[in-house]
Amino acid sequence: EKGGFDHFMLKEIYEQPKAYRDTMRGRIDESGSKVIFPELNLTEEKIRSINNIHIVACGTAYHAGLVGGTAIERLVRIPVAFDVASEYRYRSPLITPETLVIVVSQSGETADTLAALREAHANGAHVLAITNVVGSSIARDADDVIATLAGPEIAVASTKAYTSQLIAFYLFGLYLAEVRGTQTAEEISHIIAAMQSLPEQVEAMLENTDAIKAYAKHISNHNNLFFIGRGVDYAVALEGSLKLKEISYIHSEAYAAGELKHGTLALIEDGIPVIALATQEALLEKTVSNIKEVKARGAEVMALSHEEHVSSLLKSVDQAFAIPKTLPLLTPALSVVPLQLLAYYASLARGNDVDKPRNLAKSVTVE
Ligand code: F6R
Repeated sequence: EKGGFDHFMLKEIYEQPKAYRDTMRGRIDESGSKVIFPELNLTEEKIRSINNIHIVACGTAYHAGLVGGTAIERLVRIPVAFDVASEYRYRSPLITPETLVIVVSQSGETADTLAALREAHANGAHVLAITNVVGSSIARDADDVIATLAGPEIAVASTKAYTSQLIAFYLFGLYLAEVRGTQTAEEISHIIAAMQSLPEQVEAMLENTDAIKAYAKHISNHNNLFFIGRGVDYAVALEGSLKLKEISYIHSEAYAAGELKHGTLALIEDGIPVIALATQEALLEKTVSNIKEVKARGAEVMALSHEEHVSSLLKSVDQAFAIPKTLPLLTPALSVVPLQLLAYYASLARGNDVDKPRNLAKSVTVE
């Protein structure tokens, strides 16, 4: 049932290229220049009337929402707010009939996310669910459903569901951009073409994982570490950190790279590992100066970037790993993969039960 893999988590990591393809299939027209969503009830008129978007979810699904909402805001120029579902109702969010509420849930059964959906409905919002389980409570109650076609996810730590949620968000963002005319046809085709290369790029990364295995073994001897990044790299840092905590039980914190110096830099001491995501060209110089701040305090830095930056990064870091090149907005669909593997192999090195980490359940049906 694990298809030759030692754990469901590793199997599911390796199923990601297929999950990307399946989630894209039927949603891109033959010419590769347009996203189509035949399953949506959302009319073009309704899409034109939306004036703000709330993205609500928990844990890993929330992290996918951070990336997805950033993509939507950039492509469509509609303001997007993000909430963890267990907080959403309690801040009296301003929800109107012109609000589109997107709830994200692998299982479709998370109690807080379901409650957020009901709050949104009570205030007249249209609710779109991105979920991996089409028969779930959240899918049933939502006005619209975009199914992620990742297949059943068994491991408690979510991997292929997260990346499929990213794909669903990118597609939906492009669809909104088409309807609202906020991106040219050329830009849309360009992004679609880059998305269609993602599955092969993930396959290439999964072919040789020796370096990440060795690094995982190394960090498994540490009790504290940091992830830093800017922009979508920060969102991926949050996900990498959650994955690592969840299954390796190593404490880590994800920080917006520029925010460290506002207090947390005090925790950087000799030999502490810092994983720096530096995939965003426009932010590279700033991220490098943050890397230098932690290096100067004794941190041991591993950077994740594109091949072309590795040699220059190696002047300021101890190690660097390259991910394949894609558009800046799409990098999370690649950069999260080495972090998933890092969590997996660190957990393995510590002798933990990878698929069933302590204290956690696959589906959280209490608030
Ligand atoms: C972490 C993880 C959790 C879930 C969260 C939401 O690996 O799996 O953080 O993402 O409990 O679950 P769903 O997506 O089922 O609503």
